[in-house]
Amino acid sequence: MPDGTRIDYDGLIPNNVGLAGDLRVRKALETWHPGYIDWWKQMGPEGFQNSPVYLRTAVGVGSDNWAKFDFVRMPEYRWGVLLAPAVEGRTIPFGAHKGEPTWQEVPGEYRAMLRRLLVIQGDTEPASVEQQRHLGATAPSLYDLRNLFQVNVEEGRHLWAMVYLLQKYFGRDGREEAGELLKRRSGDRDSPRMLGAFNERTPDWLSFFMFTFFTDRDGKMQLASLAQSGFDPLSRTCRFMLTEEAHHMFVGETGVQRVIQRTVDAMRAAGIDDPYDIKRIRDLGVIDLPTLQKKANLHFSLTLDLFGNEISTNAANAFNAGLKGRYQEDRLNDDHQLAGATYPVLRLKDGMIANEHVPALSGLNMRLRDDYVKDATQGMTRWNRVLAQGNIPFRISLPHVAFNRRIGEFAAIHADTDGNLLDVAEWDARRGSMLPSEDDNRFIESLMRPVRDPGSYAGWIAPPRVGVDNRPGDFEYVKIEH
Ligand SMILES: [Fe+2]
Ligand SMILES: [Fe+2]
Repeated sequence: MPDGTRIDYDGLIPNNVGLAGDLRVRKALETWHPGYIDWWKQMGPEGFQNSPVYLRTAVGVGSDNWAKFDFVRMPEYRWGVLLAPAVEGRTIPFGAHKGEPTWQEVPGEYRAMLRRLLVIQGDTEPASVEQQRHLGATAPSLYDLRNLFQVNVEEGRHLWAMVYLLQKYFGRDGREEAGELLKRRSGDRDSPRMLGAFNERTPDWLSFFMFTFFTDRDGKMQLASLAQSGFDPLSRTCRFMLTEEAHHMFVGETGVQRVIQRTVDAMRAAGIDDPYDIKRIRDLGVIDLPTLQKKANLHFSLTLDLFGNEISTNAANAFNAGLKGRYQEDRLNDDHQLAGATYPVLRLKDGMIANEHVPALSGLNMRLRDDYVKDATQGMTRWNRVLAQGNIPFRISLPHVAFNRRIGEFAAIHADTDGNLLDVAEWDARRGSMLPSEDDNRFIESLMRPVRDPGSYAGWIAPPRVGVDNRPGDFEYVKIEH
């Protein structure tokens, strides 16, 4: 048995799951590997594949010193299968099997449900790499370019994480699903990725930062609930993925924060107090705050769709089965079975948006979404601190959950960012003040010019406070070779 904390780097696939002694799974993964590398070269970052990038690679799965930094060419990144250490005596924390020992093999009755959860999670990982593949061409600095690639290789590893579970525990149909994960393509008309937000474009760096702040955070919430799973290999997989995911949140939060900082500094220097003096602010070569708010509105609303329907039998079933828990289930104080419990859910009733108390089991998607909103709000509060410190009378806020939705109750209606219902004419008239207009996108696009001198930054974004791995400001994070 592997000791669960040391990683075996000897074979083709680094792992701490004892692949060296598991011939069947090792062969399955080694057979899948060339297709993965082909996918990476075809659909991964465009250009830069021969450039050494200062990347972190996991060398352990403990909480300290788990990664090392070094220059790596991306196709040579050591994508591996890494599970957090097993917790001795762990029991199923919730649902109908609460208190029973966790499963080390797939429980037959829940096989289909579990496979579906793995495939949906797995599908998002390569999707985001595909969405971000053109961004290298316009990176605002080598620091940001490196962060993009770090996120990309880790999303690639997250695909490995799900594919390992499929190959190890699902035999033939697991192998088929693993193959399909390399075939679907973000935004493809015939064979799109499974979830809407993962078929949207990420055309510019502000979109990238918003995506990592809002959409990767959905990933965090999903992984956190799967980390509670009674299927122990899934729990351990997700726990380690969350360690990496924290960096993606960091890239998004600090990315937007640096954009705000730069705008505030430029406005102060030019003596502009009115955040709506858009023309003058844009003439400074920085992104005005109302446009930034519109971008946040877009990415927040697209991400909310990932939480699914307000009332969901699937969510109830996955909870009852002990496969997918609530956010921080192990810190909650209740029966962990939700017998007779209710949960308030915003619904559309008689043409009005109102809270309705529904059985807590049916409302689990909304509970997770509410936890998500709280989590996102904390990051946003830190953005607003920059505005407060700069004395700028503007605050970023999250739009109402009914705004700009395509899934669930509110897909059928139009609402403004405060949740007031609009008819089609009102929506059409006000849409451009709430979501990025073509003009806004053109302006942002006009700023997207690459900056590749070590230590230099595009004029629309402030430098970070500290470098990656405490490297100095002029560190050459990507050695660009052609
Ligand atoms: Fe991920
Ligand atoms: Fe991520």
